Amino acid sequence: MELDLNFLNPRERVSLQLRMLYEKAGFLQYHMGRFEEYSLYQENRRFLPSEQLITFTDLDGRLLALKPDVTLSIAKNARIEKNGCGRFYYQEKIYRPSQESHTFQEINQMGVECIGNVDDEVTAQAVSLAIQSLALTGKEYVLEVSHMGFVTGLLDAVGAPEAIRPQLFTCIQNKNWHDLQELAVNAGLSKQGIDALCKLGRLSGTWEEVLENAEVLALNAAMGAALSELRTLCQALSGQTEHLKLELSLVNDMKYYNGIVLQGFLEGLPRAVLKGGRYDPLAAQFRPGTRAVGYALYLDALNQPDSDDNHKEKKPAMLNVALPKGRLGDKVYNMLASVGYGCPENYNDTRKLVVENPEAGIRYFLVKPSDVTIYVEHGAADVGIVGKDILVESGADVYELLDTGLGKCHMCVAGREDFKDDPGRTLRVATKFVNITKRYYGAQGRNIDIIKLNGSIELAPLLGLSDVVVDIVETGKTLKENNLRVMEKFMPISARFIANRASFQMKGKEMEELLKKLKSVIEQ
Ligand code: PRP
Repeated sequence: MELDLNFLNPRERVSLQLRMLYEKAGFLQYHMGRFEEYSLYQENRRFLPSEQLITFTDLDGRLLALKPDVTLSIAKNARIEKNGCGRFYYQEKIYRPSQESHTFQEINQMGVECIGNVDDEVTAQAVSLAIQSLALTGKEYVLEVSHMGFVTGLLDAVGAPEAIRPQLFTCIQNKNWHDLQELAVNAGLSKQGIDALCKLGRLSGTWEEVLENAEVLALNAAMGAALSELRTLCQALSGQTEHLKLELSLVNDMKYYNGIVLQGFLEGLPRAVLKGGRYDPLAAQFRPGTRAVGYALYLDALNQPDSDDNHKEKKPAMLNVALPKGRLGDKVYNMLASVGYGCPENYNDTRKLVVENPEAGIRYFLVKPSDVTIYVEHGAADVGIVGKDILVESGADVYELLDTGLGKCHMCVAGREDFKDDPGRTLRVATKFVNITKRYYGAQGRNIDIIKLNGSIELAPLLGLSDVVVDIVETGKTLKENNLRVMEKFMPISARFIANRASFQMKGKEMEELLKKLKSVIEQ
């Protein structure tokens, strides 16, 4: 009897097919319970995406946790022969907090782990399975591959100080070359060093072209070794590299990954559905000297409806732009219209929230400025224009591709003319920007009470609701007319061009084209 898989939902269907794929490749299914001793996570906190866990006390008094991660349990408990390599696959539920919904979520994960004597052949097999897994979904896909050693080697080669490395890493992760440049200049890095760091952004494409361009940038042995490992991998994958993209600015958690890193995207889904790489530091925690490579697939994404149905109707790709309503949005729109991205309809003449120009391949959504990051992060829009203040406050996981230089202003602390700060007292701060404020005073070790307001912040100190405000100051007119003064200026702000990470892979060409045109008018 032939098995009809059509009654299954996409997640169920793909997970069955994945099981067949992994079994055929000789991988053993690793079964485990939902709970694990809490101490495992306490001792290995640095390998977890969040410190928040669901814990409970078992009947014998032991503190247990619902698993937030599968890899730690396999690395700790799997039986592996001496000098051998254990090859496992799993299909499990894990429990992690969601920043967006502020609740814990049950996540269906399926993945592959190779632990022990991991050599080039094992690594290539794991990456090959990652490619085949994405292909099994039946959707268009891209597997991004990079090597942590190339970026860490580059940071060593240019003499990047330890203190700013996490920030440099974040800039690289977000393809934010404008802030990286500023950071590097302030840290006193040489011009050649800064140029070399910014070139990382251009090392993206087919493996042959990227490796060729990267060779000249290999400034030390670590970078050279990373490239040679990538070359060996790509050669071993010959015939499977059509959807593989080398993206040398792809970096992942440094504490977790130490070699090859992977990230897989499916058309129509707003986030990476596959993440993995070489994770020797974690494996060596339980068996010194052990090497490991693996990846996890986030299966729940497969049951989500497509966020973009362009491809379903085989229409040419339209770039969806989240345009902030108001003066900034109008300025950006006029700029884009001047380089061929205008629409026949003037959105300011109507109440329409969507205007488009199919010939130019562009569609604008008119959204509240503070919502731009939400549309882009969730993939409802491919790109957007947003103030750096809103971007930092939201913590959105998006690429920051360009500083448009529009809407320049500063984040400031301001208070009444006669206000005298007493550091011994808890400071009452009124603001719209709770996260920025917490971080700013946290870095100074200052105790504060935050009063969250949604507008007219300047009223708060006038009415005695707060001692100071943390707010944006552009011309300074609002402060002046309300007898307030700037006490501290701490964050330059301007409008940034942001992009959804998956859209950047799927509509990269269209995005590059638009960015190039936008840059040409900005630089005039
Ligand atoms: C912003 C900000 C200040 C003002 C600063 O308010 O909150 O109030 O602009 O600009 P200025 O230095 O040029 O005077 P916005 O107009 O966004 O309104 P809001 O009060 O609703 O936040």
